[in-house]
Amino acid sequence: MKSKIVAMLLAASLALAGAAFAVPAGKVIEFNESPMGKVVFDGQIHKDAGVMCKECHNNDMFPRMKQGTVKITMEEIYAGRLCGVCHDGKRAFGTAGNCNRCHVQP
Ligand code: HEC
Ligand code: HEC
Ligand code: HEC
Repeated sequence: MKSKIVAMLLAASLALAGAAFAVPAGKVIEFNESPMGKVVFDGQIHKDAGVMCKECHNNDMFPRMKQGTVKITMEEIYAGRLCGVCHDGKRAFGTAGNCNRCHVQP
């Protein structure tokens, strides 16, 4: 019982720490390598949509909180990995017909 409370407090303080450093909410990352136009990733939009850090920062997706460590391709996204874990038309808008919601035309 006691250890359960300690675990809960720990989880709560970790959540607060996450919010403080927040992709960081308020931070925008740009991916500039696609011929379709750059992709603007807004941490705040994802935070406001209720997405937790560890839903993206885990061993299967983006293990490191550092830009450029994972190469994102459409093949991965179409297969339901990386951004495609959510951008599949269920949890969030899918790719079909929505290219320009991620890719800003140059
Ligand atoms: C959920 C966001 C998202 C959507 C929707 C999306 N893309 Fe992408 N796409 C990305 C990201 C992120 C990259 C990686 C860009 C980089 O590394 O600079 C990328 C890369 C690409 C690339 C270059 C790499 C590769 O895999 O060929 C092409 C071409 C591309 N997208 C085309 C498309 C087309 C066509 C659509 C619509 C059918 C689309 N994208 C929809 C996020 C998205
Ligand atoms: C919807 C997915 C997603 C969520 C949620 C998310 N991130 Fe990220 N974050 C990313 C991606 C993608 C990158 C780039 C990783 C890469 O290129 O390998 C990144 C990069 C970062 C970076 C490095 C930024 C830079 O300029 O290099 C930090 C710091 C970070 N995230 C912290 C957080 C924190 C803290 C949270 C929770 C408040 C969070 N992220 C939530 C997807 C996410
Ligand atoms: C854990 C789930 C999740 C992951 C992973 C994720 N997103 Fe999202 N994303 C969302 C949700 C939820 C929204 C807001 C709801 C919606 O617009 O469908 C959103 C919104 C967006 C928007 C706003 C578009 C608009 O028109 O408002 C962009 C751009 C975007 N995501 C790009 C990305 C890119 C690029 C990646 C990968 C680096 C990514 N997302 C990974 C869940 C996710």
